[in-house]
Amino acid sequence: MPLRTHLLILAALMGGLSPGRAFAQQSVLNLYTARHYQTDEALYADFTRQTGIRINRIEGGEDALFERVRNEGTNSPADVFITVDIGRLWRAEQAGIFAKLRSPLLESRIPPAYRDPDGQWFGFSARARVIVYNRDAVKAGDLHDYEDLAEPKWRGRICMRSSSHPYNLSLIGSMIAHLGEAKAQAWISGVKNNLARDPKGGDTDQLTAAAAGECDIAIANTYYLLRLMRSSRAGDKAAAQKLGVVWPNQDNRGAHMNISGGGVLRHAPHPEAARRFLEYLAGDQAQAYFADGNNEWPVVPGVKVNNPALDSLGRFRADAINVGQLGRNQPVAQRIADRAGFR
Ligand SMILES: [Fe+2]
Repeated sequence: MPLRTHLLILAALMGGLSPGRAFAQQSVLNLYTARHYQTDEALYADFTRQTGIRINRIEGGEDALFERVRNEGTNSPADVFITVDIGRLWRAEQAGIFAKLRSPLLESRIPPAYRDPDGQWFGFSARARVIVYNRDAVKAGDLHDYEDLAEPKWRGRICMRSSSHPYNLSLIGSMIAHLGEAKAQAWISGVKNNLARDPKGGDTDQLTAAAAGECDIAIANTYYLLRLMRSSRAGDKAAAQKLGVVWPNQDNRGAHMNISGGGVLRHAPHPEAARRFLEYLAGDQAQAYFADGNNEWPVVPGVKVNNPALDSLGRFRADAINVGQLGRNQPVAQRIADRAGFR
């Protein structure tokens, strides 16, 4: 059976093509999500309990789901697309897959830094990209800012994943936003010169390499460190205990932040259900669940998460720049990383 036929049948099963019955059309929500956490199940069940709207969830890899929505085009059954990292949200925005949603509730609950001013995407949880160090090799006061990572004293001591990964492109994008392209170019060249090894693996690999002494410093999103801290495997816990966190740029702009988030799709068959779902995700309880599922922070101020490991990281100053700017800077970020020879 051709793929298109599969998708049409799927859409029909999902209620996207059922004609004429407004109630039936709005009583289902087709959610494409790159998140796969058990806590999310409870979140969706609670939404259905509150609203009577059933959620059909299609899970997939971040990039595969985006390609799928794009390929489905006007026939896509998807109502809401949820993914991680502003780079991916920005790419989705550029591809024109999002509708512009006006929601006074979302606009009042979610700080301006974490949502698109035009309402195409909204952040629902936040992560920081921090400097992690091996406690045996580095003292807490030895470095303060992302800028310090380019200093010659760190030659051969830093582990970092590929510069092409959206997490690093967002970080480089933030350096471009704050320092300008020329200084960001010098910075990424300096960081590249300080790498302990050619980039390989994900953030967890950089953390375990730093814990094992292969390098002294790793760059990672906070939730990867928290996963090691909360792991049931003794080796992971031991690795986490070897590591300390530097909250970067606390005396100036604050730590570079990123989001998990999503938006309503332009061809959503159930736009009203989609709006209600996003507004639900900004509620206190949903915020706590959504963030805790991946050891992140809720974006809505004042929402508490019962996660001692998260609390153990302490309070910090977060960069207040609109994360959309970091997405927009990604093409330039890739260019200057390439120029630096940082793969
Ligand atoms: Fe990740």
